[in-house]
Amino acid sequence: MLLRERGITGAWGSRGSAPDLSEAWNYGSLFGYFAQAPEAVPEYNAAAPPPGRTVLEFNGRRVYTGFMNSRAVDAYFRTLLDLEGFAAADPSMNGIQADNDGAEITKIAFAVDASLETFTRAANAGAGMLFVHHGLFWGRPLRIAGVHRDRIRFLLEHNLALYAVHLPLDQHPSLGNNAGLADLLGIEAPEPFGEYHGRKIGYKGRLAKPLTVEEAVKRIGFKGRPPLGVYPFGKRESRTCAAVSGGAAGEALQALDEGIDLFVTGEASHEIYNQALEGRLNMIAGGHYSTEVWGVRRVMENCAAGLNLEVEFIDAPTGL
Ligand SMILES: [Fe+2]
Repeated sequence: MLLRERGITGAWGSRGSAPDLSEAWNYGSLFGYFAQAPEAVPEYNAAAPPPGRTVLEFNGRRVYTGFMNSRAVDAYFRTLLDLEGFAAADPSMNGIQADNDGAEITKIAFAVDASLETFTRAANAGAGMLFVHHGLFWGRPLRIAGVHRDRIRFLLEHNLALYAVHLPLDQHPSLGNNAGLADLLGIEAPEPFGEYHGRKIGYKGRLAKPLTVEEAVKRIGFKGRPPLGVYPFGKRESRTCAAVSGGAAGEALQALDEGIDLFVTGEASHEIYNQALEGRLNMIAGGHYSTEVWGVRRVMENCAAGLNLEVEFIDAPTGL
């Protein structure tokens, strides 16, 4: 049911009495709430939203919200990223991993990894939510003890919501880590590549310009950090390339099978070394962290524009 139909549109004008979006958990009704008629929202045509209010682009319309809590942000992320489609393939708990107490969120921090360092920096930056690629849960119950307990305690004590998106962020065709790598390398008309848990999460294709391995490293840039490993085992210039971010060295075998010239991933693997050498596959292991900053950065940019929230990227490289 639309909140308007329930007679609580008066809350639009006052931040303090904003409606409780937790009642609008179902996305259809949630966006029904956001997409109310312009006349119900006096500021609708203003050039910029009033302080503390956020604006959504929905079905080509700009709509102000009165209050953005974690569930409203969750609904927004679910319109961007295919969390439902990866439910069976991804053992990580995508979505809200730790909720806040329902407080308004005016700033979201973005980081690659959930850790006490990123939590602390997000809280110090005034963020109400931290969005990460690698969250706290990986498909099995975890005792609330030790490091895990410290992390959970920090989130609760600082009322910091934690939001994680793993494989849907690797795979997304425009916002994802691998789309980011494909763009940097100049892969033309990228096609899905690299099966992981039954889903292809990487991309492959012809390079717009043939590249040496050194040129490919420069193209990616890695934010000025050296890649973990560079293995120029194949042709001097690569014409085809596949990219699978993170810990996907095993997917080098798929690249070999498909006759791809250059394979880019995050982590190197001793097990793969001799097969890549003998199969004459050029390979770049850019680092797990360094190949997975692209997705969170792209979602952050989208979020800043789409939700009109303050955002901040927290760079906490592991060097791995
Ligand atoms: Fe990863």
